[in-house]
Amino acid sequence: MVQEEFPFHLPSPFQKIDYFNHLPELWMKRDDLIHPVVSGNKWRKLRGFFQDCDKSKTVLTFGGAYSNHLPAASFALKYFGMHGVLIVRGEELNERSNPFLSYCAAQGMQLHFVSRSEYRALRARQWQPTQEQLLRWKIKEFQVLPEGGAGIHAIQGCGEIWSEIYPILTPRHLVLASGTASTVLGVLHAMPVNSDTQVHVVSAVKGAKKEQELVTDLAHSKNITLSWIDETSFGGFGRVNDVLLDKKTSFTEKTAIPIDRNYNAKVLNYLSNVRLNGTVVWLNTGGYPLFERL
Ligand SMILES: Cc1ncc(COP(=O)(O)O)c(C=O)c1O
Repeated sequence: MVQEEFPFHLPSPFQKIDYFNHLPELWMKRDDLIHPVVSGNKWRKLRGFFQDCDKSKTVLTFGGAYSNHLPAASFALKYFGMHGVLIVRGEELNERSNPFLSYCAAQGMQLHFVSRSEYRALRARQWQPTQEQLLRWKIKEFQVLPEGGAGIHAIQGCGEIWSEIYPILTPRHLVLASGTASTVLGVLHAMPVNSDTQVHVVSAVKGAKKEQELVTDLAHSKNITLSWIDETSFGGFGRVNDVLLDKKTSFTEKTAIPIDRNYNAKVLNYLSNVRLNGTVVWLNTGGYPLFERL
């Protein structure tokens, strides 16, 4: 990756999407074009961390086998000449298990694979490792970057999405995918009280009650209309079926816009079934369609 490709294409462009007859005013905010690797919401989430962190200390970060965060963090760590230790959920995995993990290893990151229960325990400790883990992973001075890059930096960074939308379009509806909810929380924080824009959150995770409550409470406190769509159609995070994959392929064939299967394909499915009047903005939160298993 050459130096000039970093930093990024910001603000990201809008593209009119003439795809659904029932949504004649559909626009996509192409955050997927921000950067080939640190794509979508990733740099928005990571920028504050990298601005404030101590570049001499190891960064300890976390993710699942198909995490989009891990390749993005690896790229940024390598770019800044930093040492990264990635803790990956799934002791059965290795660096060659999939292109996401191989990419991270090729950036010089140190990967450790842990059981689901060990990963859960780390999450419960808010990603603070034990002394035993530090010894096992051979880490001395370190700083934690939580799973998915979540945290206050991420929320502040994602607020910029709203600042980039509002001067250009005044959407009646904003539709976006959610996992940890950092992205939508950032957007809602940046939106004004009593905004006329209705926010539609397509959760990629089934039954994400804690995230739903946080997001709903914030929207309510600002008198913003919110729809939360739980992932009850496909069986939960990472689950897809042939109908969804066909929809995703047809969309890409017609528009030449690749979308990822875990997040944006589920937004596509929502948009294909919902009736919305006025200007609709679909925030394409990126991902790595090319890395995915099909
Ligand atoms: C491509 C993509 N879209 C959407 C999301 C959801 O973002 P968040 O976890 O901030 O809700 C993620 C996860 O970070 C992602 O990788």
